[in-house]
Amino acid sequence: MIFVTGGAGFIGANFVLDWLAQSDEPVLNYDKLTYAGNLNNLASLKNDSRHVFVQGDINDNAQLCALFFEYQPRAIVHFAAESHVDRSILGPAAFVTTNVNGTFALLEAARTYWQSLEGDEKSAFRFLHVSTDEVYGTLGADDAPFSETKAYAPNSPYSATKAASDHLVRAYHHTYGMPVLTTNCSNNYGPYHFPEKLIPLMITNARAGKELPVYGDGLQVRDWLYVTDHCSAIRRVLESGKPGETYNIGGWNEQTNLSVVHTLCELLDELQAKPEGSYKDQIRHITDRPGHDRRYAIDARKIEKELGWTPQETFETGLKKTVAWYLANDSWTKQVQSGEYLQWVALQYNEEEQA
Ligand code: NAD
Ligand code: TYD
Repeated sequence: MIFVTGGAGFIGANFVLDWLAQSDEPVLNYDKLTYAGNLNNLASLKNDSRHVFVQGDINDNAQLCALFFEYQPRAIVHFAAESHVDRSILGPAAFVTTNVNGTFALLEAARTYWQSLEGDEKSAFRFLHVSTDEVYGTLGADDAPFSETKAYAPNSPYSATKAASDHLVRAYHHTYGMPVLTTNCSNNYGPYHFPEKLIPLMITNARAGKELPVYGDGLQVRDWLYVTDHCSAIRRVLESGKPGETYNIGGWNEQTNLSVVHTLCELLDELQAKPEGSYKDQIRHITDRPGHDRRYAIDARKIEKELGWTPQETFETGLKKTVAWYLANDSWTKQVQSGEYLQWVALQYNEEEQA
């Protein structure tokens, strides 16, 4: 079986669903169920014995060790993290606790378990660490996209803690010989995306008749990848990646935030027209994010050349699927917009209005 951390979050849940749609190999899904973790994402697996869920914190080294020795996973795929940049600006402590200390505790438990293995089981074991392109910092308009050899220059508490975790993972390979793999991926979008991030926030706000808050001039650039393409890349790296290597994953799809928001509004105008006007009328430019990275872009040639992976979705097809999913899953959105979510929105966006 494989051991997945953070499998009740956005990418983790998509990965677990995708994994079990393609293989009968069981998954042990270990997740703390923070505000971002939601078992409803996995409702379709309720009676599926291939999916075992355990609620726990990756800082709990003892529980992790016990689970590893009981279930004997052949691989660990590590998604669990605090993942929202704006939250890391307002409260960085949780990011250090989970992303740095938690990854360290997980690595230690994995090392204890891996060192107890022998022969083929030991050499075939993998620890795959899921990371972000944000560790590389920001690019100017004419800079080359991030390659795997680009120096780390993280700018937000989120990216700094992810960078720290990447370094720890790397060190466990170089020092102990643990067979680790690291992936650094660009911005994901798709079903089950928590509506605090740009794309699902814009879809849910637009439909609720609320403002669409664009930070600053909206000309910051992100590379967007449909989430199931990220899942297929992770599967490929797990199968064929070389231990100790890192692989950048991206969609070759750079967009300004404003262009993403305009496209979303156009799709919504087409699929669920307002009585009058366009959803674009709801766009409002608000105070920029402090330290906002201007541009991210991924050079995904290594994973294509060495492992034969390329994305399957275009931005057009992926965004259409995403908007259609949100239109068909109102109950999911309502359920995640709980008390904690409302408090976050009030804190983040009311403060912005006063700024
Ligand atoms: P998410 O915030 O949606 O989900 C994170 C999950 O981790 C949640 O289910 C949460 O309950 C769980 N978790 C948090 N702290 C935990 C802890 N201490 N112990 C156990 N579980 C804990 O995040 P996501 O967007 O799905 O991102 C998953 C991973 O992918 C993260 O490591 C993130 O850095 C990375 N990543 C995300 C993106 C993106 O665009 N979302 C892009 C590249 C890389
Ligand atoms: P986000 O989805 O938070 O991802 P990240 O910061 O990790 O790239 O944001 C994507 C981009 O959208 C980023 O440049 C910030 C911007 N943004 C807004 O303009 N308004 C918003 O309300 C949010 C949440 C993000």
